[in-house]
Amino acid sequence: MVTNSYRAAYDRSLADPDGFWLEAAERVSWSQAPHQAVDSTRAPLYGWYPDGVLNTAFNALDRHVLAGRGDQDALIYDSAVMGSQRRYSYAELTDLVARFAGVLRARGVGKGDRVVIYMPMIPEAAIAMLAAARLGAVHSVVFGGFAPKELAARIKDASPVAVVTASGGIEPSRRVEYLPAVAEALALAGAEGTPVLVKERDGFDARRTDFAGWLDWDDEMARAEPAAPVGVAATDPLYILYTSGTTGSPKGVVRDNGGHAVALSWTMENIYGVGPGDVMWTASDVGWVVGHSYIVYGPLIAGATTVLYEGKPVGTPDAGAFWRVIGDHKVDVLFTAPTALRAIRKADPDAALLPGYDTSSLKTLFVAGERLDTDTYYWAAEALGVPVVDHWWQTETGWAICANPRGLDALPIKPGSPTVPMPGFNLSIVDAGGEVVEAGVEGNIVLGLPLPPGTLTTLWGDDDRYVSSYLLAFEGCYTTGDSGYRDEAGYVFVMGRTDDVINVAGHRLSTGSMEQVIGQHPAVAECAVIGVADPLKGQRASGYVVLKAGVDVPEDALARELIALVRRDIGAVADFKHVAVVEALPKTRSGKILRKTMRQIADGDDYVVPSTIEDADVLDRLIGTLRPAAAGGAG
Ligand code: COA
Ligand code: AMP
Repeated sequence: MVTNSYRAAYDRSLADPDGFWLEAAERVSWSQAPHQAVDSTRAPLYGWYPDGVLNTAFNALDRHVLAGRGDQDALIYDSAVMGSQRRYSYAELTDLVARFAGVLRARGVGKGDRVVIYMPMIPEAAIAMLAAARLGAVHSVVFGGFAPKELAARIKDASPVAVVTASGGIEPSRRVEYLPAVAEALALAGAEGTPVLVKERDGFDARRTDFAGWLDWDDEMARAEPAAPVGVAATDPLYILYTSGTTGSPKGVVRDNGGHAVALSWTMENIYGVGPGDVMWTASDVGWVVGHSYIVYGPLIAGATTVLYEGKPVGTPDAGAFWRVIGDHKVDVLFTAPTALRAIRKADPDAALLPGYDTSSLKTLFVAGERLDTDTYYWAAEALGVPVVDHWWQTETGWAICANPRGLDALPIKPGSPTVPMPGFNLSIVDAGGEVVEAGVEGNIVLGLPLPPGTLTTLWGDDDRYVSSYLLAFEGCYTTGDSGYRDEAGYVFVMGRTDDVINVAGHRLSTGSMEQVIGQHPAVAECAVIGVADPLKGQRASGYVVLKAGVDVPEDALARELIALVRRDIGAVADFKHVAVVEALPKTRSGKILRKTMRQIADGDDYVVPSTIEDADVLDRLIGTLRPAAAGGAG
């Protein structure tokens, strides 16, 4: 059974949310402290701390300087691809953020305005985020692996007053030119006049000066007037982060200022056990929620030191990269994705490179982004000799729904489980009819409303889509889109998505948006993209296309074109590399493609042919393509 301090915190958070979260709010500096926690006036759209006023960047920076810790490292930039390191103290980072806020303000950015940030993993990305927050503006960071069309969709939806970018990103195999991509995206979005600020980096072909009117980061910083933090309502938006849904159009998850600051500071202490002066390294990207919460905001709000790493787990230069960073910066807590550990293990199965580095500072390894498979769990736990903590969350929730709270009485780890629900997450496992299932039975994981502070407040500009996407399926609950079960002791096991969202190398992608791209090809009548199991990346996207009548194209040439199309329209990050031409797709009588059954067959799992299938022969004929080694037959 779970231990007392966790149990006490969890129970109190549900029985007395106001008391629990008002007490948690004392960790944050407010210009006007809140007297109320949850705000139900717009239920089912809940808010937090309706009478609170604060500034998130002040909480992340200035207050630590004012507390006398200005000389402490706030951020360590470690670039494995550039072979460089640079440390920023709290005083220096505060100054840079204040000046960049001045740059943005001079370009017309004010409270509530949007700033789109399309940047590689360089310190200026974090500075731009914090600068927007300082002005009470709303940032929207777009991951650098997305193509111009995806960037354009986000620019169109967020309608930014300014765009911040850099010359490009460095991938092990190539340099990714950002400036032509930004120009194309602005044109596609019809937003050509938007001011663009460019951090120039050496080694890229396109220069800022190739684009009329684009501004240079360094020049602007040199003449900037620092801007003071602007107080905003706790309920005002801090950022929009677009994430994949089941359709082609991404969902703009909205995060508020107050609930976010409170929730993250609670998690830093109680989940991660990280406080002032500790070093946290989250090996993710600022383009993902993990990067927002635990590269930028969480560690800085806690007064810790954050490591911003530009590089990969392998190939920059080898599978010892993570161990080197831990040793170089005396990292206390590392947070990464299981796929990164699998990549290291594949390259160095015995962790032979590990003893070459001093990793003795490391206390805990946290993982998220996808399920931590037990093989990887045991490998990492044995190699590192520290607790390996899986925790489960989503872009929408902003922090862990389930975790093993290392700052409370840590619970025994059960490999395969992200442990137990965190305070405020009233978790149930329900069947299709909404009835709670028994322990051990898999079902939909739902969370009772209101969700705790720091979770999404709505989807940008579209309350109706928020309600219809998440709140309608099960009354009074938020639908996570994940399925799983609870064991007798209350540990949660998350098994996978119930929708068409897939997870490739820790990146969340929509098969629906890939189908939309493939469907544009003149030879394609219809298609299905499914996520099939992959030993390194967790899942990979696999496409099955039916040709239009009379079309005769060689399969390999068509595959090459479709792969190039997905790369062009969605981006390299989709990692779409497999296409097969099939005679027909299996469907229900109402025309719904049986993607789940296709995936189960491809993965070699047991499957049951739905009774509503239109033509069972279609599925039988597909089995050999889905699972070349399959002998056929339903399990
Ligand atoms: N900008 C531009 N392109 C990018 C990119 C970025 N920021 N990130 C990835 N890509 C490209 C890669 O270069 C690659 O392109 P290619 O097809 O030309 O080789 C493609 O997208 C696929 O990349 P990726 O999925 O990263 O595969 P990989 O084989 O290069 O690396 C891993 C595999 C496991 C090492 C890597 O995916 C990884 O480190 N994953 C962890 C991800 C993570 O931390 N996610 C956050 C969740 S917490
Ligand atoms: P993202 O929004 O990109 O963080 O992706 C969220 C999705 O990733 C979740 O809905 C899960 O499907 C999956 N996920 C994230 N963390 C875990 C985990 N620890 N265990 C299982 N699945 C996870």
